Amino acid sequence: MPMTRDQPPPDGTTPACYVPARTGGPSKWNSPRGGTVPALAATAVPAYCETLPRTAPSVAKARRLISASLRVWSLDAGVAAACLIVSELATNSVKHARGPTVLVRVSRPGPRRVRVAVVDLSRTLPTLITAGVDDETGRGMAALADLSAAWGADPLPWGKRVWAELDVPQEDS
Ligand SMILES: Nc1ncnc2c1ncn2[C@@H]1O[C@H](COP(=O)(O)OP(=O)(O)O)[C@@H](O)[C@H]1O
Ligand SMILES: [Mg+2]
Repeated sequence: MPMTRDQPPPDGTTPACYVPARTGGPSKWNSPRGGTVPALAATAVPAYCETLPRTAPSVAKARRLISASLRVWSLDAGVAAACLIVSELATNSVKHARGPTVLVRVSRPGPRRVRVAVVDLSRTLPTLITAGVDDETGRGMAALADLSAAWGADPLPWGKRVWAELDVPQEDS
């Protein structure tokens, strides 16, 4: 079966990759001689991801990737919330992590469910802080937890992935 690609986002953003999920069965993906076409599952999870410098301007680029991807998937009603989530995650990676780059990934695990993830090169996991009224910081992860249907942080050998999922409501027609 040939690999198909969704349209690239229309606003000029060029995602670094489009990631179709693979079946658990035989695939040419990992075969050195097997060609370049992966086996696709009927349940393939579409995703876009982009590697960005771990600098403040990348937070806006991350929002553009998320916004464009959700619009391609006709999930416009989730753009605002998903942009808030990626803003928190990417800002945290810029502020608290280490290393030159971050990876931003948005996937669609269900018809109206979106997962936003940021991978960075620090093994320190985020913490949920209960900020006092006078505290100027420490609200980002709490806000993300309130906003999302699920969230988590996965340790990786060289860093971590912090992610949050959102159920996008049907838009009134
Ligand atoms: N990507 C990250 N890498 C390392 N530590 C993080 C990361 N994200 C969050 N943290 C830790 O979790 C704490 C809570 O994050 P957050 O609620 O966003 O508050 P803050 O305003 O400090 O960013 C941060 O103060 C930091 O210690
Ligand atoms: Mg924060």
